[in-house]
Amino acid sequence: MPDVTGVRSASAVGPVVGRLVVVGLGLIGGSLAAALRERGACREAIGVVLREDSARKALELGVVDRVVPSLEAIAGELGADDVIFIAVPTLAVAEVLAHIRDTVSPDVTITDGASVKGSVQAAAEAVYGTVPPQLVLGHPIAGSERSGVAAANPNLYDQHRVILTPLDNTRPESLSKVRAMWRAVGAEVLDMSVQEHDQVLGATSHLPHAIAYSLVDTLSEDIANPNIFRYAAGGFRDFTRIASSDPVMWHDIMKANRGAVLDSLDLFIDNLTRLRAAIEREDGEYLLGVFTRAKAARDHFTNILSKKAFVTTMTTGKIDYLLQPGGTVKGSIRVPGDKSISHRSIMLGSLAEGVTEVEGFLEGEDALATLQAFRDMGVVIEGPAEGRVKIHGVGLHGLKAPKKPLYIGNSGTTIRLMSGILAGQAFDSEISGDESLAKRPMDRVANPLREMGAVVDTNDGGRPPLKIKGGQALKGIDYALPMASAQVKSCVLLAGLYAEGTTRVTEPAPTRDHTERMLTGFGYDVRKDGAVAELTGGGKLTGTRIEVPADISSATFFMVAASIAPGSDLTLTHVGINPTRIGVINILKAMGGDLTLSNERTVGGEPVADIRVRYAPLKGIHIPEDQVPLAIDEFPALFIAAACAEGETVLTGAEELRVKESDRIQAMADGLTTLGIDARPTPDGIVIQGGTLGGGDVETHHDHRIAMSFAIAALRASQPIRVKDATNVATSFPTFVALAKQTGISLEVIDH
Ligand code: S3P
Repeated sequence: MPDVTGVRSASAVGPVVGRLVVVGLGLIGGSLAAALRERGACREAIGVVLREDSARKALELGVVDRVVPSLEAIAGELGADDVIFIAVPTLAVAEVLAHIRDTVSPDVTITDGASVKGSVQAAAEAVYGTVPPQLVLGHPIAGSERSGVAAANPNLYDQHRVILTPLDNTRPESLSKVRAMWRAVGAEVLDMSVQEHDQVLGATSHLPHAIAYSLVDTLSEDIANPNIFRYAAGGFRDFTRIASSDPVMWHDIMKANRGAVLDSLDLFIDNLTRLRAAIEREDGEYLLGVFTRAKAARDHFTNILSKKAFVTTMTTGKIDYLLQPGGTVKGSIRVPGDKSISHRSIMLGSLAEGVTEVEGFLEGEDALATLQAFRDMGVVIEGPAEGRVKIHGVGLHGLKAPKKPLYIGNSGTTIRLMSGILAGQAFDSEISGDESLAKRPMDRVANPLREMGAVVDTNDGGRPPLKIKGGQALKGIDYALPMASAQVKSCVLLAGLYAEGTTRVTEPAPTRDHTERMLTGFGYDVRKDGAVAELTGGGKLTGTRIEVPADISSATFFMVAASIAPGSDLTLTHVGINPTRIGVINILKAMGGDLTLSNERTVGGEPVADIRVRYAPLKGIHIPEDQVPLAIDEFPALFIAAACAEGETVLTGAEELRVKESDRIQAMADGLTTLGIDARPTPDGIVIQGGTLGGGDVETHHDHRIAMSFAIAALRASQPIRVKDATNVATSFPTFVALAKQTGISLEVIDH
């Protein structure tokens, strides 16, 4: 396991193989031998080296213990504990296999490092009739443009991946030996099929090498222009490093993986041809589209490499929070932009005519998932850069069919609101998300959409993925929401944009009205009368400017933190205080919290204020049910306030909490119980007795708000708290850790 800093150093692991015999002692073979030797992971490393100078160099550099001139010279010594590693160019593997077949006992495990697996499989079949069980096909995804034994590096495989492509008849002992060998040198070992390996590598490795060689070759043909190389700086250098790789090896790879390389090349040539045409006709929109999509994909890749992924497919490691007990929160902070408004800014901006500029956009995984989904449907979106996003709207009917199912990670708001938009499109679509989203109810949107004439399929029990059929004529409906849900209300209203006639929704209690406000801001006529909101299809949205206020749901963690930690005095600036979102302020005040609002103003149709929170002893209350929808996301944090209050807090009418990112009633009751608080769940709420918080490990069930709630609980705990799996905090509050530390919370991130 990596240490907390993620840095591993070579440490002795003890022998996992007997003798390692490397055939082809270049960069790849030499690095494995050197790495196993340095870690004491093989009893002896032997190089099969023909050329005397290479043999001398290998010994001088300490890459191997000894060298032999041929396989035959060592074959008789080898047994079941030993491994032969074939690290010759791809097309030379067949010849080596023929030598092995004739001289080496079948007990000996054989593996290889060739970049193409199909051709090695074919070579083994040609030599042996069928791939022998002792042969484990493998490919270390590591290398350098340098080659030869002098480039051997004992750390080459550390934290790199090795792909093994075992076959049905591969001998299990050989497979585990090869796996253990690669793990011993610090590599992560993955299994794949031969076909999948060759396709993936064809696209991600072989294609870029072909392009790099071709680009340098193209430029060097222009010999009349000596300036080309003289002035070729950053871009040329970054793009073409791999054109210095070993030509023989790459000539082999292109031939060996011909089919997959040709498929990838065709796709690339097609894309390049379209790019050329766009440059020719000066189509800036097309160019921006390609460049912004590519930049997002490349940044995303950088995030994977640095473990700062932004959507779940990209989330690699898990993190925990370790909190020390006690402390005080002080200062003035602005939490990131409102999640609900950020989602809607992308959706409506995309469907508008003209450009929409957004400021204060939340760069959290959920809102980024929405942004990516609209990019996948052909919308050009610049940014986000420091909260600024520029959306080149395509109009209500300008979205294009996505090439693959839309993946929206953890985001319930994205799937529910987008289903309304997708129901009105001419194309079919599919939306899916992560493990937590896969459990969340979607019938609540599928049912009204079906009433409108949409064709929506769900998984069993009305769960994601959603499959939505395009080309349906929608009609307006009069819909009484069965539950107080802004997501369902918004879904129906967004589908209403595409419906014939008027769509009317009536809610059982007020829920957040950002959709209605923002539609009005985009120039759409939305009529509101008490619990009813209605609009008529067939209009249009016009691009606008949006300033996203700080998210009151994120500010909540700090409001509760300051309320429970004696001596605290914290100001939260520019917080959205839309009347449909201020339940948390009302509830904390009713519990005796000391909160003062100042600098109240309206920004882009949404009210905002600065909120100063000072410590005050809290008392338990029966939370008024009319506050529940107005504080729906804030209850996990409010339960922490209740645990620190004097007396009993009772929540009722909040069964919706059971179908959020986790069952928040159960998850909070379990965590509070671990900390020594009497917290009894009820079907639609909870009863919490205020008390003294101890410490311990709490589970988050992948829920961002559960994680942040227990992080602030530490301010009043008597022992450290470990919040297990806080990875999803990045969905809504990517700067939580930094702000928590800045205000005085003692929080350490533990990286798995
Ligand atoms: C949201 C509505 C609420 C809330 C969610 C965001 C929205 O969900 O919990 O975090 O942006 O419309 P419900 O509509 O399911 O109550």
